[in-house]
Amino acid sequence: MTDSTTLQRVVNRRLPGLRWPGTRDHPNPMSKHNFFREHITSRIAKVSDLPAEQAARVLEIPPDPKLGEYAFPCFLLARQRKSPPPKVASWLASQLLCDDVVEAVTAQGPYVNFRLTASSLASRVLPEIATTQAGYGRSDLAATIVIDFSSPNIAKPLSIGHLRSTVLGNALGRVFRHLGAKVVGINHLGDWGTQFGYLVTGWRRWGSEEELTRDPIRHLFEIYVLANASEDPAIKEEARATFKAMEEGDQPSLALWQRFRSLSLQVFGRFYEDLGVTFESQDGEAFFNDKMEPALALLAEKGLTTVSDGALVYPMGPEKKPALLKKSDGSTLYLTRDLAAALYRLKTYAPDKVLYVVGMPQKEHFRELFTMLAALDPANKDRFVHVDFGQYRFAEGKMSTRSGNVIFLEEVVARGVEMAKVKIEEKNPDLEDRETTARLVALGAIVFGDLVNDRVKDIVFEWEKVLDFEGDTAPYVMFAHVRARGILRKLAEEGVEPDLARLQPGLLGHEHERRLMVALGQFPETLDTVARTLKPHTLATFLLELARTYHRFCHDCPVLKAEPGLKESRLILTHAVATVLSLGLQLLGIRAPDRM
Ligand code: ARG
Repeated sequence: MTDSTTLQRVVNRRLPGLRWPGTRDHPNPMSKHNFFREHITSRIAKVSDLPAEQAARVLEIPPDPKLGEYAFPCFLLARQRKSPPPKVASWLASQLLCDDVVEAVTAQGPYVNFRLTASSLASRVLPEIATTQAGYGRSDLAATIVIDFSSPNIAKPLSIGHLRSTVLGNALGRVFRHLGAKVVGINHLGDWGTQFGYLVTGWRRWGSEEELTRDPIRHLFEIYVLANASEDPAIKEEARATFKAMEEGDQPSLALWQRFRSLSLQVFGRFYEDLGVTFESQDGEAFFNDKMEPALALLAEKGLTTVSDGALVYPMGPEKKPALLKKSDGSTLYLTRDLAAALYRLKTYAPDKVLYVVGMPQKEHFRELFTMLAALDPANKDRFVHVDFGQYRFAEGKMSTRSGNVIFLEEVVARGVEMAKVKIEEKNPDLEDRETTARLVALGAIVFGDLVNDRVKDIVFEWEKVLDFEGDTAPYVMFAHVRARGILRKLAEEGVEPDLARLQPGLLGHEHERRLMVALGQFPETLDTVARTLKPHTLATFLLELARTYHRFCHDCPVLKAEPGLKESRLILTHAVATVLSLGLQLLGIRAPDRM
């Protein structure tokens, strides 16, 4: 389990961020206009020479919740006043008296820590959630963001890297949409290149209609591997010639290719549906077949490319290998198609950001691409971002499509469903429709098991771990949500519905209640951090912490048996927790069951 301070650390505002036009720190104006932040910084501004706006920029969430909800670092003020930061912190703390919003102001080292009153938390945070519901934390981020994600290669099984890209890209897209951005999700399918010469050639020799119907991707992949691994020079020559003909519009080969493409999309589509993934465009590499020449011409016009040994290259500088854009036989490359795609996206969507959610091994590829784009227009420098991620490992070793060591996701999901069913059987033998719930739990476990990790780190995947109801897992968060929904249902049966008019903020003073409200209030800032760092694990960790606190609350703070007044107030709190847990999971691409 992560310790309780993890949440605080990850939403700490000192994390390096993306640069956004116009808004230096906050892609989410909602979190910029956080009432508590404004209250604290306006009071700091009143007693010092620091403008509130500037104070707000440095106000942090301290790493240990015991210290308080906000911490103000005094370095800036210390420089202004030419006095050591700890001294300035003590002075500042002595100037700031408590009020009905802040119940404690304490200096610690160079920081001044602020602890909020439970009643102000209750009267600010709970009504906000009750009125906005699933719209809580929404904002009006005026940006267009292209997200290139998933992007598998057709006629091949999805690799685990594609799973990661799908899950990460989906979560980022959902968070950005929630923040008000216009998101263009693109599935840049790998559907073009010499490998399709091999595929068509292989099909003509070994293809079986029957097997293609039964399991299209498996069959196509087998054929491709056979052709590609063949030592027969005739096959190599045929494959090369076939792709060349395809590039020039050869109908019979293109018809086969089209068929393989749509079969692959059908299979991928089932998976996307399970994960709730949608795309604005599924134009893959083939779409750019006729857009590469104009792109290359643009580079040439600006004198950016040279010809070396008959090949067209972009020089990357004295120490570096030049980037290859066209081989001496005239064939183009993955990079050439990405160049054309990038220019097309600029023209078509006028994006503020173009994110490529692709694994670490393609770092060099994107470095080359981004260097060329920045040479064409300096504004592209901050616009294009490689959102990279680490490897996935199963107990059996590394996964890669190239070695043929692939993973058939449907098998992975099926296995998870079986295991989830056993768990549910143990916990709740009377549950109706166990199959559907087990599927939600298994899918959620896979997605959360991925997203709970900082994306740049490698992940070791173990079913036992991701399905653990007590661990840092989807089932743990889902179960907190189920508990909250259960309480809401029981009270509804008694005829008691959450009603803001009956909230008594002063009654929610238990430490668990305070922690719950603090966490709920930090949800918008958490989304803000995800948007700035492009790291959804911040949200996953936030949900774990919220779930953990809620489980504690359930243990120590009865709702159903509480006396009148407290009961209604705890009901509103429970409703807010259920709302934020399901919203948070949904933004990660996970559907939370109401019962399990
Ligand atoms: N199809 C590529 C692969 O599977 C990933 C494509 C990523 N997107 C891009 N624009 N290059 O490795």
